[in-house]
Amino acid sequence: MLKNDIGKNRFLAIMEAMSEGILLINRKNRIAMANRSAEEMLFWAAPLEGRDITDVFSSSTLERSLKSVGRNGDRTSIKVTCWKGSTGDKAIVKGKGREKQYSLSITPIDDKYIVISAEDITEIERLSHVRQDFVSNVSHELKTPLTAISGFAETLTEADLSAEDTKRFASIILKNSTHMQRIVSDLLLLTSLDREEIEPAMKDTSDEAIFSEVKAYTAYRAEEKGMAISYEPAGIAVRCQESLIVQAVMNLVVNAVSYSPAESGIEVRSRVRGGMMDISVQDHGVGIARQDIARIFERFYRVDKGRSRESGGTGLGLSIVRHIAMLHGGTIKVESELGKGSVFTLSIPIS
Ligand SMILES: Nc1ncnc2c1ncn2[C@@H]1O[C@H](COP(=O)(O)OP(=O)(O)O)[C@@H](O)[C@H]1O
Ligand SMILES: [Mg+2]
Repeated sequence: MLKNDIGKNRFLAIMEAMSEGILLINRKNRIAMANRSAEEMLFWAAPLEGRDITDVFSSSTLERSLKSVGRNGDRTSIKVTCWKGSTGDKAIVKGKGREKQYSLSITPIDDKYIVISAEDITEIERLSHVRQDFVSNVSHELKTPLTAISGFAETLTEADLSAEDTKRFASIILKNSTHMQRIVSDLLLLTSLDREEIEPAMKDTSDEAIFSEVKAYTAYRAEEKGMAISYEPAGIAVRCQESLIVQAVMNLVVNAVSYSPAESGIEVRSRVRGGMMDISVQDHGVGIARQDIARIFERFYRVDKGRSRESGGTGLGLSIVRHIAMLHGGTIKVESELGKGSVFTLSIPIS
């Protein structure tokens, strides 16, 4: 079909159907036409027709690009950041997030008009920052033990070391490589949880079975610190990915042991509440300040880096717990008081 045959109505329908925002502006920067996606994307400035484009985006990059745009032909692509709300009260009422990022392609089509196609890239940009931060955190976390390993390995190659020193340096190397292994296996677990491959491994089990596994894996840690862990299962039949729930509860118990003084007690309980099984792990340890509670589920966030590392933590334990809870359609909550202790509660649907 020749483009001429499409007809004006069909052409407008195509514009309206596009997911990109399309804006036609005149050489005085006034918007002459905007498609539906543009109106939706920039809802806080709607209706767009008749407005000055530089008011809508209030971006100096855009102003510069529009000034230097030619008569026709070449397309310029820019990224602009703008604040919803900068153009009127409406935005403050309606806006959700504040900062928005757009990718704009600016193409002059003739002496009179310029076409701008706009894409909201706020989420894409956010995810790319998250990924960059994550890679830099991982590198940093691995670098510390790696530096220790290569440093002490180098010392070991020196000829005149006593047997005692040799043994000491070798054990430092072992400790650091174990730590690296732990980080790597936690990262692999997080990655597999991200892929959400859970359905096939769901099985019927019980809180008793879960607790006894957790107990077997964590008893030696508690014994080391002279701590007693009491398990009080309510006797609940539950359908879940058992190994993951065991892993999650284990992470909570290991934390309770790590962040509590020697000789204190820990209580692990379960109960049914509205179709959910709640498993709570209560300790009488250091507690968590209010401002940290919001962040402890982030990857690599620790309140006290030294203490976490000393107890062999990777900073990934709680983000693994949160992933496992979400995979099951459940939640993880925490109540805590500084100096008094914490209660972490994992809730998952019973069936
Ligand atoms: N039971 C707890 N009591 C006090 N602080 C805790 C407790 N559990 C977790 N935290 C805090 O949350 C941080 C993150 O926990 P986690 O993700 O398990 O990492 P890690 O234990 O490896 O440091 C810990 O470093 C610690 O500061
Ligand atoms: Mg931990």
